[in-house]
Amino acid sequence: MSVRRLADEAVQPAAFAFNQENLEWAQRTIAKYPEGREQSAVIPLLMRAQEQEGWVTRAAIEHIAQMLGMPLIRVLEVATFYTQFQLAPVGTRAHVQVCGTTPCMLRGARDLMEVCQHKIHPEPFHLNEEGTLSWEEVECLGACVNAPMIMIFKDTYEDLTPERLEEIIDAFEAGKGDTITPGPQIDRFTSAPAGKVTALANEADVIKVQNVSLGASRSSARAAAPISASEAGRPRTDAIETNPAIKSPSPVKVNGATEAAASVDAPAENPVQADRVSEEVEGSVRTRAHSEAPVTEQPELRAAELSKDEVAEIAARNDDDRPVAIARPAQPDNLQLISGIGPKSEAILNELGIYTYMQIAAWGPKERAWVDHHLRFSGRIEREDWVKQAEALARGGEAEYERVFGKKPR
Ligand code: FES
Repeated sequence: MSVRRLADEAVQPAAFAFNQENLEWAQRTIAKYPEGREQSAVIPLLMRAQEQEGWVTRAAIEHIAQMLGMPLIRVLEVATFYTQFQLAPVGTRAHVQVCGTTPCMLRGARDLMEVCQHKIHPEPFHLNEEGTLSWEEVECLGACVNAPMIMIFKDTYEDLTPERLEEIIDAFEAGKGDTITPGPQIDRFTSAPAGKVTALANEADVIKVQNVSLGASRSSARAAAPISASEAGRPRTDAIETNPAIKSPSPVKVNGATEAAASVDAPAENPVQADRVSEEVEGSVRTRAHSEAPVTEQPELRAAELSKDEVAEIAARNDDDRPVAIARPAQPDNLQLISGIGPKSEAILNELGIYTYMQIAAWGPKERAWVDHHLRFSGRIEREDWVKQAEALARGGEAEYERVFGKKPR
């Protein structure tokens, strides 16, 4: 990591003052802290100064120290410690911060820096010819699971390849940075396993985890909803944590056919039985009429990943690609908010143990292919981008869906 010093005097402006709007905001921010503790506002004020000026100037540091009654050296310490503060002018359209800490370095951060050197400037903290771009190496930005990654302004872009970084830089240089969705740049939801579940994939291990979960939650679940005599001794499946990593111990078949509980070595008092799930599915089929019009304006982000033949082959060959099932949660998500899922498809998904947006958002290409083939949908899951819809609904409900797609779900 480079030594962080204030910029040369030659580029330092003589004075700094917050504009009226920012001044009022700063005063409100300072007032949030108890008398004598106003210095707690130093980081938000430095950030606001940076947003106003593009970088943190010496004059801004002095001004903020005065506003907060802090010794200048204290504000300097803060400004020079955190790499979120730019101490010299940076690119007007993007300043690319490349994480160079061990996990990112092991996963290709050096290649990302070479892209920056090639596309922006051979040296960090130097502007490109147009003054629109700059870059630097920084320490861990907290997204190590999705290494390698970069940060531009307040957004992170993760799971990067040099080619993807070039595309991102080009978009920002063209003033189209907002067309790039922050977060993982590969097929995964936040930091969920890429492709499919890679931990707790062994059925027997999953049952052990499930039983631990049941043991912890059984008493409260029973108190909330008494069960019938015929269910005595059977755990309530709706009390199971809806962790998408926990697979239903007994696969639920479509068309009402269910299999007996899996022959795993679960304790006798906790035999989770799939027919309970199936019974609840029967009662959960909704009758609300609605259109199943696809979200045609959304890009087919994942459609090209598998050919039609591959889709058919996967579905015919390998039940391992079936998505992870969970027991019915107390409050399943309304899957019909996803364009393309109607009452019938929702019922089938429920029978497959799919109840939540999070589950659908975590599907990889093989799981999508499996479900698509199972529903005889001929590629609709990709065309309608169920995963993107589910991601939005999981992240922020209908409001987030409307923000992402520009219209209400359904
Ligand atoms: S090491 Fe790069 S984000 Fe943590």
